[in-house]
Formats: sequence, C-alpha cells, structure tokens
Amino acid sequence: MRIIIIAAIAQNGVIGKANGEMPWHVKEEFQHFKQTTLGSAVIMGRKTFETLGKPLKGRKNIIVTGNRDFITEFEETKICHSLGESIDYCKSEKYEKAFIIGGGQIYKQSMLIADEMILSFMKFAAEGEVKFPEIKNDIWRFVSTENREQFEIRKYVKINGKTN
Ligand SMILES: NC(=O)c1ccc[n+]([C@@H]2O[C@H](COP(=O)([O-])OP(=O)(O)OC[C@H]3O[C@@H](n4cnc5c(N)ncnc54)[C@H](OP(=O)(O)O)[C@@H]3O)[C@@H](O)[C@H]2O)c1
Repeated sequence: MRIIIIAAIAQNGVIGKANGEMPWHVKEEFQHFKQTTLGSAVIMGRKTFETLGKPLKGRKNIIVTGNRDFITEFEETKICHSLGESIDYCKSEKYEKAFIIGGGQIYKQSMLIADEMILSFMKFAAEGEVKFPEIKNDIWRFVSTENREQFEIRKYVKINGKTN
C-alpha cells in the first residue's frame, strides 16, 4: 500500500486558518484533489473532519482523534485513535492507496511514514496560522510538475529508506 500526502500550499507555506477555515477556494484544485483521491482511503485529523462537516463522497474517510468518545453519524467514516492505527486499518482493508489529507498536525506526523507527496503549490500567498511542514530535500526527491492556472502540482517520492 502506498501512503500519499496530498495538500494545497500557499506561497507563504499556509494551508489553513486556526479556526479550521481554508483561506481560498479554487475549484480546479478541489477537482484535482477529488479526481486523485476517489476510490481510496483518506486519513485526516479530527479538526479537518470538523471543517468538512461531512465525509468526502466515494472515499473511506478515516478520522484520527485522541478522544475515545468521538463518534460520527456517517457510515463512510472510521474513527482511529492514532496514525498507526489508521494505516493498519487501510492495510487490513486492502486499499492500494491511503491519502493523508491533513491538516497541519497530521501532515507533520505523516512526513515520517509517507511514500509520496502530491502537492499543489498555489500561485498566491494566504492568511492563516496553519502551515505545511518543511520539505527536506535529502528526504524527498522531486519527480514531476504539472502547471495549472492558479497552482502547480509537484510530485515527490521518499528517498529510499530515509526518514526525518
Ligand atoms: N490546504 C490543505 O491542503 C489542507 C488540507 C486539510 C486541512 N487544511 C487546514 O488545516 C487546518 C487544520 O489542521 P490542524 O493541524 O489544526 O488539525 P488537524 O491535523 O486536522 O487535526 C488535529 C487533531 O487530530 C487529532 N490528532 C492529531 N494527531 C493525533 C495522533 N497522533 N493521535 C490521535 N489523534 C491525533 C487530534 O484530535 P483530538 O483533539 O480530537 O484528539 C488533533 O486535535 C485547517 O485550517 C484546515 O482548513 C488544509
């Protein structure tokens, strides 16, 4: 199973606001995210799930929380109490790909375990307190880029056997 981080990052590293809001709405980027993740498992922090308000359709939504009492009313969700538990669950369900979809806390912890990253670099700066972690170039190898009107999609793979 491939563990893939997918994120959209403003020019100043911002990915979101402290109150959970996304600082921008770029339809083409959402479409790219949807197309890429459809049919797979998506793993997210509890705060990101609460921002979404409901599960993403056509994907198994896995929510990571430390709160043992946390539940949702939705069938498409699975609650896990650690990142490791969420990955084990995806493996046990035989998903080929598990996408890490944020937010800041979950991205930071996932840099260690992810195999790939698909990052949309937005062509503007944004206001917000939550940032994407540092991309260390002795750990991540840049492999390809795709230009879109308001963003550029860059793909990275983990350099063999190295973690931060
Ligand atoms: N630009 C993008 O691509 C993108 C994508 C997604 C989200 N975002 C933005 O990111 C922001 C949210 O990020 P965030 O860092 O504040 O929160 P987050 O990562 O979405 O969620 C944090 C929560 O996840 C749980 N958690 C984290 N690590 C855990 C662990 N090891 N074990 C158990 N539970 C764990 C905790 O939940 P409990 O408190 O319940 O224990 C924690 O409070 C929002 O602004 C959102 O809009 C941006």
